[in-house]
Amino acid sequence: MPGKKSIKFKSLEFKDLDQIMEIEKLSNPTPWSIGSFIDCINSSYQNIVILQDDLLLGFCISTVNFTESHLLNISIHPDFRSQGMGQKLLDKTEKELTKKGVSDIFLEVRNSNIGAISFYKKNDYRNVGKRKNYYRLLAGREDGLIYTKHINLSSFVSISRFFLFFLKKIISFNRGY
Ligand SMILES: CC(C)(COP(=O)(O)OP(=O)(O)OC[C@H]1O[C@@H](n2cnc3c(N)ncnc32)[C@H](O)[C@@H]1OP(=O)(O)O)[C@@H](O)C(=O)NCCC(=O)NCCS
Repeated sequence: MPGKKSIKFKSLEFKDLDQIMEIEKLSNPTPWSIGSFIDCINSSYQNIVILQDDLLLGFCISTVNFTESHLLNISIHPDFRSQGMGQKLLDKTEKELTKKGVSDIFLEVRNSNIGAISFYKKNDYRNVGKRKNYYRLLAGREDGLIYTKHINLSSFVSISRFFLFFLKKIISFNRGY
């Protein structure tokens, strides 16, 4: 359709790091270092970026640990917020995590981050606790709120997906890639 912008997803790559760092610095009061993102690429984390017509708009980093995932960072470039991009990215993240057998997602969010808290609540994340002084501020510290979401897969589907994911890892390890 003419004029319709195409949204795509891909895994984070080293060549994306300049754009990722720009978004991170505009999004996080105490931004991650480039080294943290490099560690994510070199790990088995799920690192998804969202693109609109090849322009990188945001990213979501999450760990995968058996049936649990820790959503470590999700950010959309400020120029593209409140346009449904974060929603698309979170939907894609959850979909890919469930394919890997994840049934429970955990995350921390700054106590003062009202926008992100609304975003998570809208997506059925519920507050299950607080980590005192968890986050650094430019001056001082602030609490982190712990949110979690259970993705309602039947246990059979969840276990099958986990074993399939694990099997693929073993096969690719044996093939040396
Ligand atoms: C949180 C974030 C990823 C949301 O991305 P986004 O593209 O702006 O969100 P969307 O436009 O997809 O919003 C989806 C829903 O989330 C909620 N929401 C998102 N931003 C909100 C805000 N600032 N205030 C209130 N609700 C908000 C709304 O309910 C919205 O649904 P609606 O459009 O039907 O009202 C984005 O604001 C961001 O990058 N923030 C800075 C980084 C950050 O704080 N990350 C979270 C760290 S834990």
